[in-house]
Amino acid sequence: MLTIEHLNCGYGKHEILHDISVTIPDKKITAIVGQSGCGKTTFLKTLNRMVEEEQGYTTGKISLGNTDIKSISKETLRSRIGMVFQQPIAFPHSIEKNLTYVLKYYGIRDKKVLSEKVEESLKKAKLYKEVKDQLKKSALKLSGGQKQRLAIARSLCVNPEILLLDEPCSALDMKNTIAIEETLMELKGQYTFVIVTHNLGQAKRIADQIIFMDQGKILEVTDKETFFDSPATELAREQIQYM
Ligand SMILES: Nc1ncnc2c1ncn2[C@@H]1O[C@H](COP(=O)(O)OP(=O)(O)OP(=O)(O)O)[C@@H](O)[C@H]1O
Ligand SMILES: [Mg+2]
Repeated sequence: MLTIEHLNCGYGKHEILHDISVTIPDKKITAIVGQSGCGKTTFLKTLNRMVEEEQGYTTGKISLGNTDIKSISKETLRSRIGMVFQQPIAFPHSIEKNLTYVLKYYGIRDKKVLSEKVEESLKKAKLYKEVKDQLKKSALKLSGGQKQRLAIARSLCVNPEILLLDEPCSALDMKNTIAIEETLMELKGQYTFVIVTHNLGQAKRIADQIIFMDQGKILEVTDKETFFDSPATELAREQIQYM
């Protein structure tokens, strides 16, 4: 479980997130929704300490289980909390190597284990069937949707507890979006997902918990049924009307 307590975050003198307190439950899908610029990506980046890399500051406390994430090394934290970005990232290597280099970084050398993990993660991300005969081919030849599923496989191969996804489907067509939604739905018993999405329909389809943000604050945290049936704020009501 991730527990966020009185989190403030900003860059220089510009505070972007104001007094965020929320719990991310285990093995569920939490969707973060809210207007452009309200701080969704920034919030996601606080959860794996990426904000620090961009010279941002945070105050308050984020705990993974009972441990403050500041006391976990970034390497360990990133293996426990993976992240998938809006623009699919494939490295200029073979499809297989896109996964094995991460596994090797975390100390896995045994060839059999490596190939088992590659197959298993590609299957989880619903990419295996399409690429099983071309694992040695360049990942750059994949389509955008396939690259995004490869990025998901790459995050899953080190068996994280939590996967953060920042608008993973916004550049994808319906078929790829459905594949990713199915992946998350099928895997939520095994992993905790936090997904930022502009697509309220997607949040309605897949989320268990909704975090509704505006101007760097959380306006509402609730189960999806409550959010869509009786939202707490006028702003949420307006946005739901335009779904
Ligand atoms: N590295 C940075 N340095 C300075 N300001 C930043 C940085 N990253 C984000 N911001 C500012 O933080 C605010 C929130 O940005 P953020 O990207 O978190 O919003 P968002 O909700 O993800 O928006 P969108 O829906 O458009 O992706 C914006 O005002 C943005 O300009
Ligand atoms: Mg964003």
